[in-house]
Amino acid sequence: MANELKVPEHVAIIMDGNGRWAEHRGLARVEGHRAGAEAVEAALDAARKFGVKYLTLYAFSTENWKRSPQEVAALMGLLGDFLDRKLPSMMENDVRLLTTGRTSDLPFPSRSKLLAAIEATSNNRGGTLILALSYGGRAELVDAAKKMAADAAAGKIAPEKIDEKLFASYLYHPEIPDPDLMIRTSGEQRISNFLLWQIAYSELYVTPVLWPDFDEEEFGRAIKSYQNRDRRFGGRKK
Ligand code: FPP
Repeated sequence: MANELKVPEHVAIIMDGNGRWAEHRGLARVEGHRAGAEAVEAALDAARKFGVKYLTLYAFSTENWKRSPQEVAALMGLLGDFLDRKLPSMMENDVRLLTTGRTSDLPFPSRSKLLAAIEATSNNRGGTLILALSYGGRAELVDAAKKMAADAAAGKIAPEKIDEKLFASYLYHPEIPDPDLMIRTSGEQRISNFLLWQIAYSELYVTPVLWPDFDEEEFGRAIKSYQNRDRRFGGRKK
């Protein structure tokens, strides 16, 4: 049976194509990121409208540190501006902000703005925006394994008791349900080290649309496609 009109509870998005969007217009890459930040705002509004409870956005990967210092600084600046601009409406709309990743790597002042916004929105329950920042799926698994090994060495857990449930409890946000739908823009059919554990049974949706052009209509198309999928979770039916 298909998902009928079920709205995915958790949508994760690989926001790709900012650079190409800028290139097509003869603009600098940073202009693509600026337009991408506007698309982030539109996606947040659309997710709220559609009734998506958790939206995880791949805003900066562990690999993105290898980009030029100018591009990294521009992305960090855009993050700070986004938080300044969006915090009032997140409060108004009861949206909680979380981050996932090695966020202690982020420079000041983006990091302090982030921590302040997380704190300010911590009691909001209308929806959750999770920004993946300095995030890598393998890094998350390594960090979980490290914590688990330390607990095992300290005698807090028995190695033979490690199972999927226990393993998952060591991930960055074990309380958040796995994504139902994973969207990737700009046509590339890759996972790019995003949420490797959590997407085991997520439905994938790849669109050729470049991230800055991803609007409410495109988001609606992705949800419609999800609603026509038959999710079996490896079994015959759910
Ligand atoms: C991929 O485009 C996008 C990123 C590396 C970063 C995503 C950042 C934003 C959407 C803007 C800032 C974010 C927030 C949360 C305000 P690309 O540069 O890899 O594009 P390309 O593959 O076409 O070069």
